[in-house]
Amino acid sequence: MEEALNSKFYITTPIYYVNDVPHIGHAYTTIIVDSLARYHRLKGEEVYFLTGSDEHGQKIEQSACKHQKEPKVYVDEISKRFRDLWDSFGISYDIFIRTTDDFHIKSVQAAFLKMYEKGDIYKSEYEGNYCISCEAFFTPSQLVNDKCCPDCKKETTLLKEESYFFRLSAYEDKLLRWYEENADCILPKNKRNEVINFVKAGLSDLSITRTSFDWGVKLPRQLIEQDGANAKHVMYVWLDALMNYLSATGYENEQKVAYKDFWPANYHIVGKDILRFHAIYWPAFLMSLGMPLPKHIGVHGWWTKDGQKMSKSIGNVIDPKEVVEAYGEDAFRYFILREVPFGQDGDFSQKAMIERINADLSNDLGNLLNRLLGMGEKYFKYHLNIKEEILRKEFAQEWEKIQRIFEELEGFLETLQIHKYLEELWKIFTLANATIAKKEPWNLMKENKIEEVSALLLFVSNVLCKGAIMLSPFMPKAAKEILEVFGKEADCKSYLEFICKDMLLTQIELKPKGMLFPKFEIPKTNEAKKEEAPKKKEAELPKLEIENPINIDDFFKSQIRVGEIKEVEEIAKSDKLLKLKVDLGEERPRQILAGIKAYYTKEELIGKQVCVLANLKPAKLMGELSEGMILASKDEDGLSLIIPQKTKKVGSKIS
Ligand code: ME8
Ligand code: MG
Repeated sequence: MEEALNSKFYITTPIYYVNDVPHIGHAYTTIIVDSLARYHRLKGEEVYFLTGSDEHGQKIEQSACKHQKEPKVYVDEISKRFRDLWDSFGISYDIFIRTTDDFHIKSVQAAFLKMYEKGDIYKSEYEGNYCISCEAFFTPSQLVNDKCCPDCKKETTLLKEESYFFRLSAYEDKLLRWYEENADCILPKNKRNEVINFVKAGLSDLSITRTSFDWGVKLPRQLIEQDGANAKHVMYVWLDALMNYLSATGYENEQKVAYKDFWPANYHIVGKDILRFHAIYWPAFLMSLGMPLPKHIGVHGWWTKDGQKMSKSIGNVIDPKEVVEAYGEDAFRYFILREVPFGQDGDFSQKAMIERINADLSNDLGNLLNRLLGMGEKYFKYHLNIKEEILRKEFAQEWEKIQRIFEELEGFLETLQIHKYLEELWKIFTLANATIAKKEPWNLMKENKIEEVSALLLFVSNVLCKGAIMLSPFMPKAAKEILEVFGKEADCKSYLEFICKDMLLTQIELKPKGMLFPKFEIPKTNEAKKEEAPKKKEAELPKLEIENPINIDDFFKSQIRVGEIKEVEEIAKSDKLLKLKVDLGEERPRQILAGIKAYYTKEELIGKQVCVLANLKPAKLMGELSEGMILASKDEDGLSLIIPQKTKKVGSKIS
């Protein structure tokens, strides 16, 4: 293994949208990046780890509006929540960039001007569909059911507005050449093929400004003053967001001098949802700017809960804080990094997590440390010592195996196979446990073979010490605790000595430690208890008083059907009611009055599917006929419409 070169290593997470609170998906990407950053620091490289928040765009503007806050006030608040979460997890980021930072805005404007002057940007009109949730443009042929986003399946809006375009089509061949010539530019490799096929199908020019809302980076002043550009344009949020990776290195701004020569990034780590933006738009923008391209774009899979997408509206979002409070930071990190191969999707279950913790952390690693400390105390009062030649000779085969494993580990990280790194690393702990079992030190002691036992315990100590150094980027706290037993720390020096130079400890005063990884028998968080509690027999269920019970025939008297909102009108005298036209698949839409004005905008309602009590006798409200009732639920947080979880044919019965 070579000694660490003093090289630079720049790695990024996506900058997360601040319209939502962080969940385990965000934590997953951030923990991957944190682990890789720590690994490269351990090797003595100069590391720049970027994370941050994506704060402009229509989605954020709408979200702020929904919360009745000024966008800047709103984004300050949510951005802080992300930052606080990462701080509480000990995430070792070097910069938390915000797209509302002045130095970033300056870079984005300078880049826009450069691309414009190069002839890569032209003015025209955009006509087509836009998904606000994904902040992405789609042509009619890409839509699902004529109007829904192919990615998130939410309804798109039709746009027709003046817009500047980026000549993406001109970069088709150059992009294809980049993918061809750089086999590892997109990892895992199957994702690279996906991108190649997408680009081969043809790229259209990309609309990169919007005029129908305000919350974004304005055009460069020169364009407005000299070229008479309309000052209403704000930049497309993805151009703004992607540029963060460059602005953080001081591109066309005076900031962040310390990180000035970190471009190009070694790795952009992203989820598969935003592959297209990173693997197509971003390199094309960089080519236009004449900047070098990132070395790798690492694309990981998607975490689901019970096979379903995690979303606030389904109510199945897993709070990483809750998981960490219940199981500990390092156990959570280990589980998400080890359980699912990088690039594949995973389903989050606390049962799987408990099994992993119990097997790998308690049984293999925790137990090894306990056995060492137990025997170390009993046989040697914590004082171990041996001649190096004996230690090397006695375990010659084992050392060779261990060294071979260490030599292969880095290769796994280069291709982002973190799960494989951990799996291989674990083999050294398993080997040490097996060696104890084979040698039966308790019998050796009876035979008074003290030196053999001493050698064995020093073997185990060295495995734990070396193993903890290699584990430290992934489980920093646990590694620290393990290394404390030997009076060591995980840093460049110990990496160099114990891993690169294969140094061995031959004299140790062990420091006692409590149990590192207690076993879990039952799920610890409420969410998991609900889901995984053993089912009780009917007879054992305590009695529950049911208010106003009805039988099934009573229920079937009501006809609840799926309807789709076609039109929305205000009612002049009412600040509560909206007049809706709802299609139930009948000869004409129903007119229904609903008291939802305070909770939904017209735009949000049109096209939405709702549940309608269809056989309610028509009645007049505020002088207007209402032919049914829309189902909704209200609590102290406000009102929510009850909507079918998947789109259903209008008129479908609900039972
Ligand atoms: O897309 N499983 O931000 P975003 C795994 N602002 N990873 C998940 C996940 C899940 N269920 N949910 C989220 C944006 N992620 C843009 C990025 S970058 C220039 C701009 C992670 O808040 C994953 O990394 O929607 C995904 O790519 C990212 O969060 C999307 O975060
Ligand atoms: Mg998203």
